[in-house]
Amino acid sequence: MRLPPYKADQTPFSRTVGDGATRADGDVGLTRRPEACATPYCNKASDEWKMRTVRDWPFAPRHSRLATHASPWRIVIGWAVLAVPFWTLFGCSFRASAPAQPMAFSHKVHAGDYQIPCLYCHTYARWSPVAGVPSMERCMGCHASIESDHPEIGKLKAYWARKEPIPWVRVHTLPAFVRFSHKRHVRADITCQTCHGPVERMVRVRQTASLEMGWCVECHRQRKASTDCLVCHY
Ligand code: HEC
Ligand code: HEC
Ligand code: HEC
Ligand code: HEC
Ligand code: HEC
Repeated sequence: MRLPPYKADQTPFSRTVGDGATRADGDVGLTRRPEACATPYCNKASDEWKMRTVRDWPFAPRHSRLATHASPWRIVIGWAVLAVPFWTLFGCSFRASAPAQPMAFSHKVHAGDYQIPCLYCHTYARWSPVAGVPSMERCMGCHASIESDHPEIGKLKAYWARKEPIPWVRVHTLPAFVRFSHKRHVRADITCQTCHGPVERMVRVRQTASLEMGWCVECHRQRKASTDCLVCHY
């Protein structure tokens, strides 16, 4: 049904007149007498008011201090204020860390668009505990010719000319008391993406898994690998 527009002074009770009779000002006649409420829980607001509250929520005018009738902005601001200390305390464990690197090397370009295999650059992942970052020779093998006037490649060539290793910023780190080996996992046919996420779509590498103990142990249980403390701890 169509309801007439609000009036500024309207309150739920101001319209409760008579025996539900239509008022002279064009009221739709859905009003009800407050005395008709027999139980203490009866909501004495007019039916019209209740319909509006439901129909127009959350923008219906407020008529009580109940939380359900609080202004939507108060609810939003209230939760935001609560979220700030929560995020400050615990945010670091959810935040995907993606540190800036000394040059704009993109996995999306190399591993995604050009489909260079992960192991072509991270050769050691199959053979040793560490996956390792590729040497500059590997980069220069292509970049002596490819895209050699690109400004970011200019940075690569400058490091190469100075014979200085590129100071890549590490993204993933486990505490020193944890033993981890790429070799065992890579040879068990666990894809890099299982632990590192869709790196081939990342312009800048970010950490996607928590690397917490529960994460390691969860998979070890599922894959029936050892969960003995001394497997992972020295
Ligand atoms: C062309 C060479 C190249 C290819 C191909 C490549 N990477 Fe990388 N990768 C790098 C370089 C260089 C870095 C260090 C700079 C950085 O973090 O962006 C790196 C960093 C990483 C890191 C972050 C290491 C850390 O610091 O914790 C991960 C994880 C990674 N690569 C996974 C992959 C995966 C998975 C693939 C395949 C989908 C892949 N890479 C393909 C060169 C390569
Ligand atoms: C197998 C060949 C190959 C290797 C190895 C390789 N690149 Fe590239 N790289 C390319 C190609 C192809 C492009 C051009 C992408 C384009 O412009 O479409 C490129 C582009 C780039 C760019 C330009 C940035 C961009 O987003 O286009 C940078 C920076 C770069 N590579 C850095 C590196 C570094 C650092 C290494 C070594 C870790 C490396 N590349 C190893 C093939 C390679
Ligand atoms: C079982 C999970 C897992 C798989 C599978 C995995 N990684 Fe990792 N990766 C990790 C963890 C955990 C670290 C942090 C290691 C540390 O701090 O000692 C890491 C670190 C790295 C690093 C940086 C440090 C290092 O070891 O050099 C690179 C690069 C990397 N991974 C690449 C890869 C590539 C490429 C593959 C696939 C061939 C792969 N990873 C597969 C869990 C995994
Ligand atoms: C996606 C699943 C998966 C995740 C995540 C994972 N692992 Fe494993 N891990 C395995 C499997 C499967 C094996 C057994 C490989 C084999 O049989 O050689 C294994 C083996 C190992 C081994 C060698 C066990 C031995 O008997 O010598 C170590 C050490 C290890 N994992 C440490 C870790 C640590 C530390 C983490 C977390 C940072 C981790 N793993 C996360 C699946 C996983
Ligand atoms: C599959 C590998 C794995 C196994 C098995 C494992 N842990 Fe861990 N543990 C880890 C990793 C990874 C961390 C580091 C977690 C982090 O940095 O948040 C860790 C951290 C810890 C910590 C430090 C917690 C902290 O908050 O600093 C303790 C204590 C610990 N482990 C005890 C144990 C005990 C006891 C067992 C045997 C019941 C065990 N772990 C088995 C991987 C493992």
